[in-house]
Parts: sequence; C-alpha cells; structure tokens
Amino acid sequence: MAIEWSPKISTGIDWQDRQHKELFHRINSLLDAMTVGLGKEEVQRLFSFLDEYIVIHFDAEEQAMHKYDYPDMLSHLEEHTHFIDDVATLKEEAREDSVTTTHIIKVQSRVVDWLMNHICTVDKKLGKFIKDPQKV
Ligand SMILES: [Fe+2]
Ligand SMILES: [Fe+2]
Repeated sequence: MAIEWSPKISTGIDWQDRQHKELFHRINSLLDAMTVGLGKEEVQRLFSFLDEYIVIHFDAEEQAMHKYDYPDMLSHLEEHTHFIDDVATLKEEAREDSVTTTHIIKVQSRVVDWLMNHICTVDKKLGKFIKDPQKV
C-alpha cells in the first residue's frame, strides 16, 4: 500500500514539502521491495538509503529551527530521534529474519503512521512558524 503526498499535508514551506515528497517516494520504494519479495540485500539497501535521507531531512529542519529560534525545538527533535531509533530497529529486524508480512505491516504502521502524524502536526507547526512567527 503506497502512501501518497497530498496538498493537505503541505507545510507551506517549499523545501520541506519537496523533502517530504522525496521521503514518501523512498518509503514507497522500500514497501514495494518488501511486498514483491525482493531479497534481503535489496531491502537493506533501501533501509540504508532511507536512513541517510532521514538524517539529511532532519538536519535541514533542525537548522531551520536554530535559524528562526523556534520555541518548540526540543520536543520536535525528540520526535526525530524516536523515529531514527524506530527505523534502526526495523532495519535490524529485517536483517535477522527473512522479510515477512509481519515486517511489512510493522514498517507500514510505525514508519508510515509516524511520518504522517509528524508531518501533519509538528512539521506543519514549524512551517507555520517559519512563515509567520507571530501567528503560532
Ligand atoms: Fe520534523
Ligand atoms: Fe519533516
């Protein structure tokens, strides 16, 4: 099941939306690879790719938070750390066993749900603040 980016989840900030779209694209590739039963190596490769991309994206948001002196920076960063830990755990689990339906469901629920919730709440709030700090 693919996850779709839609204007509803736009943060209003171009670079953030672009990176979120790319994240969705990477996660979809990973889910596709797992669903069609690609080898463990391919799944690991996609996990590593995703890992790397998450770091780039979270770095960009952290820099923006510093730049705009964002008051909710700490709680936002905590969520990022939690997500990085979750992805690392899923990657480890996929390394140990063959990729099973259980893994796919786990990736779906942890990564996809987390990402959607995070973007729709805390990332949107950050985007709003960057656009107009007085209004948040
Ligand atoms: Fe974020
Ligand atoms: Fe984000």
